[in-house]
Amino acid sequence: MSRQCSWRIYIFSLIVLLAVVSAKSDGNPTNDIVDFINANRTGSKLPKLSNSPGLGCMALQLLLQCTKNCSNNNTLDCHPPEVDITEVYAPNCGVELPTVDTISGRLLGCFWKPLDPEQALSAVLVPNKKSLSLVQSKEHSEVGVGYVGVHHGPFLWGVLFSSGNTSSSFVLEGGKGIEQRSGCFSGINVPCNVGNKLLLTEKILMFSISCLILQVVLLV
Ligand SMILES: *[C@@H]1O[C@H](CO)[C@@H](O)[C@H](O)[C@H]1NC(C)=O
Ligand SMILES: *[C@@H]1O[C@H](CO)[C@@H](O)[C@H](O)[C@H]1NC(C)=O
Ligand SMILES: *[C@@H]1O[C@H](CO)[C@@H](O)[C@H](O)[C@H]1NC(C)=O
Ligand SMILES: *[C@@H]1O[C@H](CO)[C@@H](O)[C@H](O)[C@H]1NC(C)=O
Repeated sequence: MSRQCSWRIYIFSLIVLLAVVSAKSDGNPTNDIVDFINANRTGSKLPKLSNSPGLGCMALQLLLQCTKNCSNNNTLDCHPPEVDITEVYAPNCGVELPTVDTISGRLLGCFWKPLDPEQALSAVLVPNKKSLSLVQSKEHSEVGVGYVGVHHGPFLWGVLFSSGNTSSSFVLEGGKGIEQRSGCFSGINVPCNVGNKLLLTEKILMFSISCLILQVVLLV
């Protein structure tokens, strides 16, 4: 291993480290999706939707059930049972059960390459008139967006709409709910943890740290 520990690996890991830092400051693309949805609605004289973190986290839970269901042609065939909303998503997020309200619509999609939020919206989530009419439905009052990337796998996007009371629905326990280990969702300012990049960079960083330790040991 010591032969592989050249100056190149240090320079390389420095670059990777910088990439990780800049990727982290990218923030949370799910909030951009909400902004685009609201801009599209107000452009058609419809009211803005409230950005609900509880609903967003539930959209992420829905996606986590679908990570194996993205076909090679970027279609997501995934139909988890309706009861999961109250039996799985709400408890996993720490959404207070009595505050779970009506889901008035959902959009799900996947893509085998990372996309920026605008592309994800137009290519994956709102590709046709049917999905556009869902975005522009008068029924909704709030929205939540989830996003997750699978290691070596597809990227999944999901939007949940609700017609619930925006001041009293999908309340997160303690204001924050349960911290999520993968993916991200709208309504909060926690940056995305989208598996792909991070896992590779973590391996490279681990390798360069082991190099450093090895060289220190050899010097002594
Ligand atoms: C809303 O989005 C659709 C689909 O991307 C687009 O065709 C339409 O022009 C948009 N409307 C506004 C007002 O932004
Ligand atoms: C995409 O792939 C799925 C499963 O492999 C297939 O059922 C579906 O017809 C394909 N869709 C298109 C648009 O090619
Ligand atoms: C995902 O796809 C598999 C195989 O097609 C199917 O059995 C399963 O029900 C799907 N999962 C969901 C949550 O729809
Ligand atoms: C929404 O919830 C708030 C707080 O619980 C309540 O005061 C208000 O009356 C509710 N609005 C509607 C339309 O139900």
